[in-house]
Amino acid sequence: MTKAILTVDGQATELPIRQGSIGPDVVDIGPLYKDTGLFTYDPGFTSTASCESKITYIDGDEGVLLYRGYPIDQLAEHGDFMETCYLLLYGELPTAAQKADFDRRVTYHTMIHEQMSRFYSGFRRDAHPMAVLVGVVGAMSAFYHDSTDIADPHQRLIASLRLIAKMPTLAAMAYKYHIGQPFVYPRNSLSYAANFLYMCFSVPSEDYVVNPVLTRAMDRIFILHADHEQNASTSTVRLAGSSGANPFACIAAGIACLWGPAHGGANEAALNMLREIGTVDRIPEFIARAKSKTDPFRLMGFGHRVYKNYDPRAKIMQQTTHEVLNELGIKDDPLLEVAIELERIALTDEYFIEKKLYPNIDFYSGITLKALGFPTSMFTALFAVARTVGWVAQWKEMVEDPSQKIGRPRQLYTGAERRDYVPVPDR
Ligand code: SDX
Repeated sequence: MTKAILTVDGQATELPIRQGSIGPDVVDIGPLYKDTGLFTYDPGFTSTASCESKITYIDGDEGVLLYRGYPIDQLAEHGDFMETCYLLLYGELPTAAQKADFDRRVTYHTMIHEQMSRFYSGFRRDAHPMAVLVGVVGAMSAFYHDSTDIADPHQRLIASLRLIAKMPTLAAMAYKYHIGQPFVYPRNSLSYAANFLYMCFSVPSEDYVVNPVLTRAMDRIFILHADHEQNASTSTVRLAGSSGANPFACIAAGIACLWGPAHGGANEAALNMLREIGTVDRIPEFIARAKSKTDPFRLMGFGHRVYKNYDPRAKIMQQTTHEVLNELGIKDDPLLEVAIELERIALTDEYFIEKKLYPNIDFYSGITLKALGFPTSMFTALFAVARTVGWVAQWKEMVEDPSQKIGRPRQLYTGAERRDYVPVPDR
């Protein structure tokens, strides 16, 4: 199948079909408007490929997620987050020497410009960490001028390393500011995940002991959230980047989009939902609300635009939840009890089966993050820390794509036709 024929009013237009390495082929509609005067219409992009990419592949029907061809469960089990960052950025798993060099380069960019810490005192203490992150990441454009020229490959590399390296520091500072504790500087002797937990949970008055089980869980959570094809926030980063905006501004735009409860904000919303349900006996009431056409309530952490099967990340997340709760000696967590029973009921309910609604990554992540000691308000900020490498990798791919141009969609206009101005006395 190499072309599609579109016939409008008897006029046939040939549209080339392009094949991917795996997954659906695409109809190239580039010539459509020129040849037919028609636009396509797909407001949620449910059938639209916005770009060509080699980074992440998702098979929603089979519940498959590949980072540069490697299955997410293998990377989560055998790899670590820095290795995953290298893979997403450069397309291949690093050799031992390449990994050591990459770890070192990221480590030596974890500190932020000291003056940036003054931004935090401008926020109210109860400011949502995502509001802080949107602000301070955007402000990086004002501090790192030597890595904002996107035409310079070296500056693109430095900006990428700075974003990946500094996001944990900025997020940890948002948390510390939120709880009124002093900022903790990064330590170069710690791994990426251990450093993040250290910057969040250590205090100057006592030594911090790294817990290898919790560190491994944090690292795995970062791997699971690292990239996910052309999701809403990644598409936001690509669109912002297509105008030539600097990388810090583009990532700030991605953070803003991720905050929404239909996207990255769902982990915070899912835990709040589990808290609202409270006990297993109240689950039927919420299931009924989720099914009701008149009630806007949805089961947060359920459903996905692409996955019409179990989100492969959710399975790994569930395993991680049990590891963390066991390590912390947390038995019979009421929220986990509600989550497991809610999942069991939902997966046997005709409504959820017919609409192919399964738990997604956000369903279990909140329970794990709460057990690790994070407040609910930090959950989406943690998602942003992990997703930064995916955003950066996709931004880099777009900038380096010779065929890329500014993204400028058109519309179906249904507003008023041309009409003349009417002076006020005549209205
Ligand atoms: C993430 O895109 C990505 O890759 C995102 C992400 C990533 O890694 O970047 O995977 C991260 O955002 C995961 C998704 C987190 N969001 C939530 O958990 C919020 C709850 N889920 C829904 O809001 C919803 O499922 C979406 C937004 C995730 C997907 O919505 P779609 O694909 O636009 O589907 P839809 O809203 O058209 O729903 C289809 C039907 C509707 O019923 P009908 O109008 O056809 O009768 O399913 C129903 C919906 O009402 N439905 C739900 C539901 N999700 C969809 N009903 C109850 N509870 C839900 N959670």
